[in-house]
Amino acid sequence: MTYFDRRPTSGGPVRVALIGAGGMGRHWLRLLHGDPDTELVGLVDLDRSVAQAAAESIGRSDLRLGTSLTEVVGAIPVDAVVNVTVPEAHLPVNLEALGLGLPVLCEKPIVPTVGDALVLAAAAEVAGRLVMTSQSRRYFRSLNQFRAAVSGLGDIAMVTTDFQTGPHFGGFRDRMQHPLLLDMAIHAFDACRHLLSADPVAVYCEEFNPTWSWYDGDAAAVAVFEMEHGTRFVFTGSWCNEGLPTSWNGQWTARGAGGSATWDGLSAPAVDGAAAEQASQLAMQEDSAAPEEIAGALAGFLSALRTGATPYGDIHSNVWSLAMVQAAVESAERGARIPMGPFMGRAYEEALDSVRDPIVRGRLSSWGTARAGLAAHR
Ligand SMILES: NC(=O)c1ccc[n+]([C@@H]2O[C@H](COP(=O)([O-])OP(=O)(O)OC[C@H]3O[C@@H](n4cnc5c(N)ncnc54)[C@H](O)[C@@H]3O)[C@@H](O)[C@H]2O)c1
Repeated sequence: MTYFDRRPTSGGPVRVALIGAGGMGRHWLRLLHGDPDTELVGLVDLDRSVAQAAAESIGRSDLRLGTSLTEVVGAIPVDAVVNVTVPEAHLPVNLEALGLGLPVLCEKPIVPTVGDALVLAAAAEVAGRLVMTSQSRRYFRSLNQFRAAVSGLGDIAMVTTDFQTGPHFGGFRDRMQHPLLLDMAIHAFDACRHLLSADPVAVYCEEFNPTWSWYDGDAAAVAVFEMEHGTRFVFTGSWCNEGLPTSWNGQWTARGAGGSATWDGLSAPAVDGAAAEQASQLAMQEDSAAPEEIAGALAGFLSALRTGATPYGDIHSNVWSLAMVQAAVESAERGARIPMGPFMGRAYEEALDSVRDPIVRGRLSSWGTARAGLAAHR
C-alpha cells in the first residue's frame, strides 16, 4: 500500500528545489536543468556564494537562491526537493522538507544511522510524502544485465565483490570515521540486495586502515554477509588502493547451481556453465535505453510521483542497505557476527527513544517491529 501522495497534481513538470551546491550538487544541477520533466526553480546552500556560483555556472542566475529550504519555499512554489547536502545534514533537511509537505529524493547515505532512518520513514508516512534515496550505482544497464544473467543460474551460493580505488577527495570523507563503509560500500551492498532480491540475515566484518592511508577513519574492509535464501556475499574493498584498480562499481562474481557470471562493473556480464546460454539470453533482453546513474534515480522518483508506485530506493526498503553498513561497522567494532534480527530490534528501540515528535512516535510505535513497519510499504 502506497503511503505517499502523487505530485504535482497538475501533471506539469515537477518544480524542484535543489539543496547542496557542492561537488555532487553541481552534477544534480546540470541534470535537473536539462531534464524536460522537471523545472529547476530554487537552489539552497548554507553558503550563499557557493549556490550563486553554481547557478551562474549553468547560466541560471534567475534561480531563487537561499540558505534554507524554508526560505526558498516561502518565496516560490516548489513540488519536490533533491537533497545533496553532506550526510549529517540529510536528516534535518529531509524532515524540514516533509514539514513543508514536500517529497524528497536524497543522496546516499539517506541518514547516518538505521534508527534515524526508521524515524524518517515514519515521518514520511505521517506527512504522506515520498522519501527516496538516490543509490545511483544501482542504475547501470550492465548491472541489470548481470542481474538478469544471475536470475538464470538457479540457486546462488555466493557473490563476491572486490572494490579497489585510491581517490584523494579532501573534504568530509577524509575526516569520516568509516569512510569506505559509510560513503562507498553502501553502493555495493545496495547493488547486492538488488542483484539477489534479498535482504541481509547476518554479517561479520573487519575494518582497518592501511599504514599508508590518507583517511582519518578506516579506509579498508572485508565483510561476509549471509543473505536471505542462504547466499553468502563477500565484500573486499579499499579506498586507498595503489595499482590494479577495479571499476567504481567493483569486480563481481556470482556462483550458482547452473553456472557462474562475472561483471567488471562496466560492460556486459560474462557467463559460464550449464545454464550459460539461458543466462546470456536473459541478460540480452534487458532494456538498453533505461537512464543510468543519477538520471536513473531521478526517473524513478518522477515516475513514483506520477504513478504512486513505490520506487526502488524508497526509504522503507533502502533502510536495509543502510542496515548492512551499520551492522558491518558494529561487527568490526565488536569483533562479532551480527544477526540482523536483534540489530534491527535495537535500532527500533533507539528510534523510539530519540524521536521527539509525538505523532511520528505514535506512527513508529504502531509498527510493532521495524521489520513489520518496513514490510508494510515494500
Ligand atoms: N552517488 C554518488 O556517486 C555520489 C558521489 C559523490 C557524493 N555523493 C553524496 O552526495 C552528498 C554530497 O556530497 P558532496 O561531495 O557534494 O559534498 P560537498 O561537501 O562537496 O557539498 C555539500 C554541500 O552541502 C552544503 N550543505 C551542508 N549542509 C547543508 C544544509 N543544512 N543546508 C544546505 N546546504 C548544506 C555545503 O555547504 C556544501 O556546499 C553526500 O551525501 C555524498 O555521499 C554521492
